[in-house]
Order: sequence, then structure tokens, then C-alpha cells
Amino acid sequence: MNPQKTLLVVYHTMTGGTAQMAQAAAEGAREEPGVQVRLLRATEAGPDDVLGADGYLFATPENLAAIAGLMKDFFDRCYYPVLDRINGRPYALLVCAGSDGQNAVRQVDRIATGWRLKSVAPAIIVCTHAQTPEAILRPKQIGEADLAQCRELGAALAAGMALGVY
Ligand SMILES: Cc1cc2nc3c(=O)[nH]c(=O)nc-3n(C[C@H](O)[C@H](O)[C@H](O)COP(=O)(O)O)c2cc1C
Repeated sequence: MNPQKTLLVVYHTMTGGTAQMAQAAAEGAREEPGVQVRLLRATEAGPDDVLGADGYLFATPENLAAIAGLMKDFFDRCYYPVLDRINGRPYALLVCAGSDGQNAVRQVDRIATGWRLKSVAPAIIVCTHAQTPEAILRPKQIGEADLAQCRELGAALAAGMALGVY
């Protein structure tokens, strides 16, 4: 039997939406017995966590048409220490946005390309449709259908890792 694989889920959140998405994905991944899931906030994650994982799930809000600053800080701190040491590992991406999310996807995909990671599925973007400053700053509740999609993506990524198909 293959040794157990590790999936690292790294997320940042300000008003809770991305956290719910990341937790749902981690929950789905935990259904796969062959995979250990580590759910870390971006501020707590570093190069050793990246090196110690076999696959990745990145989850970020889109802020000001970019990935959240603390998610960028995670990539900035980890990029060179792990470069060329994680080539070919699988990743997937979750983005929580108000109404767009595309630039955050482009940015993470570019970073992942630099790391030579392998995308296993199209990014999931969940839009909260908050428009006013008050609504944007309010705590978010992600709908069950969107959380189910995140759960499925986590489960699929973990299953592929356990089977060694990536
Ligand atoms: C400073 C700031 C900038 C934002 N910029 C964008 C943006 O460029 N595009 C977008 O779709 N949503 C934008 N939003 C909305 C957030 O992506 C949305 O509120 C999302 O729920 C944040 O995720 P979180 O709940 O995990 O913090 C912005 C929110 C803040 C606070």
C-alpha cells in the first residue's frame, strides 16, 4: 500500500466566505482515508508546510482585483524556498469574490505555473454579490450548493492523490 499522502489547504479570509469554502473542501478531502489534510491560514503556513505536502488547495478572496494581500505574502515567503522542489504536484483553487474573481484565478495560476504545479480542475469562484461597503464588510454565509461544490473538489483532489493518478 502507498504511504499516506498529505494535502495542504492554505486560505485567507476577512469576512469568512473563503474560510467556509476551504473548510468544506478540507471536509471533502478528509473522506479519503489515504490522505491526511492540513488546513492552515496563509499567515501560519510556510515553506516547510509546502514541501511537506503532496498536493495543494489554495483558497483566497479577491481583493482590489488581486489575491488577498496575506495570501500574496504566503506565496512571496514560500516561492523561492520551494522552487523546483515541488514540480508536478497537483493543485486546485477556490476564490471567494464579490462579483468577479477572475484576476485572482489568473494570479494564482501564474504562480502555480512558476512552481510547475499541475492544475487538476478549473478554479471554483463563489460570488457573494455584496455591492455596498456595508455589505462587503459584513460576515458572509456561503450557500450550501457552493459549499457542496467545494466539498466535491476537495474529495476529487484527495481521491486522485490517494490513487496516484496525478
Ligand atoms: C478591500 C476589498 C476589495 C475587494 N475587491 C474585490 C474585487 O476586486 N473583486 C471582487 O469580485 N470582489 C472584491 N471584494 C469582495 C470580496 O472578494 C468578498 O467580500 C469576499 O467575500 C471576501 O472573502 P472573505 O469573506 O473570505 O473575506 C473586495 C473586498 C474588499 C474588502
